[in-house]
Amino acid sequence: MIQRPRGTRDFGPVEMAKRRKVESAMREACAVFGFGEVVTPTFEHAELFTLRSGQNVVDEMYVFRDKGDREMALRPEITASVVRFYVNEMSNFPKPLKLYYVGNCFRYENPQSGRYREFFQLGAELIGTKNPESDAEVIALAVNCIRSAGLENFVVRVGHIGILKAMVNKEIGDEKLAGEVLHMIDKEDWDAMGEMFDARALPRQLFDKIAAIADMKGELELLNNLDQSEATGYLQELFGVLKLYGIEDCLIDMGIVRGLDYYTGMVFEIDAPRLGAEKQIMGGGSYTLSELFGGEPVFSTGFAIGIDRVVLALEAEREIAVPAQLDAYVVPAKDDMRKYAFGIVARLRSQGLRADVDLMRRSMSKNLKYASSVNARYAVIVGKEEMAKRMVTLRDMKSGEQRQVMADDIASEIRKS
Ligand code: HAM
Repeated sequence: MIQRPRGTRDFGPVEMAKRRKVESAMREACAVFGFGEVVTPTFEHAELFTLRSGQNVVDEMYVFRDKGDREMALRPEITASVVRFYVNEMSNFPKPLKLYYVGNCFRYENPQSGRYREFFQLGAELIGTKNPESDAEVIALAVNCIRSAGLENFVVRVGHIGILKAMVNKEIGDEKLAGEVLHMIDKEDWDAMGEMFDARALPRQLFDKIAAIADMKGELELLNNLDQSEATGYLQELFGVLKLYGIEDCLIDMGIVRGLDYYTGMVFEIDAPRLGAEKQIMGGGSYTLSELFGGEPVFSTGFAIGIDRVVLALEAEREIAVPAQLDAYVVPAKDDMRKYAFGIVARLRSQGLRADVDLMRRSMSKNLKYASSVNARYAVIVGKEEMAKRMVTLRDMKSGEQRQVMADDIASEIRKS
């Protein structure tokens, strides 16, 4: 038997119904915020991602040569593609440009619960500006997506990469080394960072200063402990706008560095604490990428939500309720009622009900068993006498209750209940 590749999943109809429900709620939130959907290719020139996405992402990328000997990559994320699309075709569009997307991404990670090699993101990018209002708009959208999906327990943390990035770059000098330090901060791998500082004879005070800033997590007032700077003033203003949007419970987290390298200013993450190790259900921030892809520099802010993790987090809170796959399953009592049964199912479908009919020429009792096993809400039984009176028997599959209704009224009877 051929198995599916490690880190990938198959989704059955019930699971897909749950996933689509979550996805539709989040799509609707994007639409309500005035964002329009875009779709970009599943694979791109590998260079699109190697230019700036960061070593972590590059190490995990699925890269291959196509038949024209071009180096291609399955997308590890979608932001770079959206910015490429913007540079290629949308740079003259009125600003700000508000775009959202849903798609699969690929990263060669160590699979575990909540971490896959193929996973699904819903993300949004607001292109063309960078100020507290536009950043607040993007944070508000991310929060609204998560709320619309129905999740109750989540924590929004907001930081500013400018402070740590500027300090590390200035004090360390070497860009590559500074990048490695930032990744260690992102992973909160203090032991490795200590060893690196010792091995490279980097100043211990710098380590302590970084650790102290990265440790600033809590209420907005924490910012008073930092030297007042452009970044702290920016965050204070941003929190003021968030309040106007009715978002009052965000925390400050100056330790957010993010695994991708393109961020320049505000950065934010959302966790679902119940998920344990893979609790980060969303990540985002403000960045510039367009100039790397041959366009004019343009400020943008965006985020991506891990749909798989949102579904897991919701299921940890309560069951995701989805409608039964079938409203009605039409059962001919005998062979000579089959044609009549087809007419009925066609009619129910045209009236918008989820309806099915016996396709296996089964006996009535086997058909009822089947209707129950697929969780049909009603069996519509077509008997000889009923057929003559243009009636059917409507059987509630849960209670077993049966009543006769006119064939013309089946849909309205089902809808009434
Ligand atoms: P990211 O933090 O790399 O950011 O990914 C966003 C979200 O995707 C994560 O918070 C997580 O929920 C989910 N995710 C990432 N990797 C996996 C995985 N292996 N399995 C399951 N879920 C995963 C970005 O991708 C940026 N493009 C976000 C962004 C948009 N920044 C600006 N604009």
